[in-house]
Amino acid sequence: MTTDRTTYASEDVSATARSAEPDRPAESATAPLLQVRDLRVRFAQRGRSVHAVNGLSYELAPGRMLAIVGESGSGKSVGVRALMGLLPPSAQVWGSALFDGTELVGMPEREMRRHRGADIAMVFQDPARSLNPTMRIGSQITEAIRAHADIDRGAAQERAVELLRLVRLAAPEQRFFEYPHQLSGGMRQRVMIAIALAAQPRLLIADEATTSLDVTTQAQIMELLLELQQQLGMAVILISHDLGLAASYAQDVIVMYAGRAVEYASASTLFEHVRMPYTRALLGAIPLLEREAHTLLPVIPGQPPDLSSPPVDCPFRPRCASATEQCAEPPPFAEHEPGHWWACWHPTPDEGTHDNAGDGAQR
Ligand SMILES: Nc1ncnc2c1ncn2[C@@H]1O[C@H](COP(=O)(O)OP(=O)(O)O)[C@@H](O)[C@H]1O
Ligand code: SF4
Ligand SMILES: [Mg+2]
Repeated sequence: MTTDRTTYASEDVSATARSAEPDRPAESATAPLLQVRDLRVRFAQRGRSVHAVNGLSYELAPGRMLAIVGESGSGKSVGVRALMGLLPPSAQVWGSALFDGTELVGMPEREMRRHRGADIAMVFQDPARSLNPTMRIGSQITEAIRAHADIDRGAAQERAVELLRLVRLAAPEQRFFEYPHQLSGGMRQRVMIAIALAAQPRLLIADEATTSLDVTTQAQIMELLLELQQQLGMAVILISHDLGLAASYAQDVIVMYAGRAVEYASASTLFEHVRMPYTRALLGAIPLLEREAHTLLPVIPGQPPDLSSPPVDCPFRPRCASATEQCAEPPPFAEHEPGHWWACWHPTPDEGTHDNAGDGAQR
């Protein structure tokens, strides 16, 4: 385990990539399925460079659920899309992402296509846009199954009905012949999950997958994801700007700010012993009752930094009530307590005040 520091300045990426051991969250007892090390993503945009992800490191063991939480624009989606080769050509990616020992960063598209769906699958926020409106849902699932398995149409159709049953869509044999517009938002998201499960992936990434749904449907879909994770032994990355959701379902949580991890711990540790002022601000501004109802992140006064000219000091400094002169130097993201990482010179006192938050680790 290293406690070397990662600077927050816009340092030379190649130099950082050469550094022996970037900071990273704790290693798990089980061999990790995914090991992300010092991941960096920049976009070339109108002659400028947008520093979207700036040295992200984490590990994920099979069968665990990791939530990546942060305000809009903090690099959550770009960070996972980089793993799947789903970024536009204007993106440059550095660092390493080992999936079961295979390097994903820099993998040729042809090879990546074999992993995408088969090993790593993704569910997005908007099932209406992700589904083909002109195709029956049964055909869409059947197609996804046949894209990864050499089986005949009849067997794939049977499997498609099984998948619809697995994601608890009522009357799957009838739904099989329906079009997306005949389904509710929650049903469409179940279909998207069925498509994502078509090739039995070992890692499922749910990027704001329940954000467009009402609170009740959101809870049902999250319960479904949790059950599927346990039943199928999948690892899950849950991307959300909903702290309550992360606390309730995930076992581990990474809080991101301006393209970097600023706090990382188990869900129970993070919500009971929060130390990073940014996480504290996110938590503190949510009334407990609302938090239970899975509210979105509150608005913290001020704006995140402009990622086309990233700050050389602590990125949260302009919005931080605890900032001092020392914060002109970027704080290291380090394991300050066993299993609890944060990036701050002046962590908020550990008051253990959030002890009624959910604890995914108990599940
Ligand atoms: N194709 C792109 N070109 C330029 N900048 C982009 C592109 N996609 C995302 N970004 C920028 O990268 C940053 C991180 O975006 P994103 O990962 O989508 O945030 P989040 O998912 O946390 O809301 C944002 O500043 C966003 O504007
Ligand atoms: S106290 Fe300083 S280092 Fe910590 S979050 Fe605030 S500005 Fe950053
Ligand atoms: Mg996003």
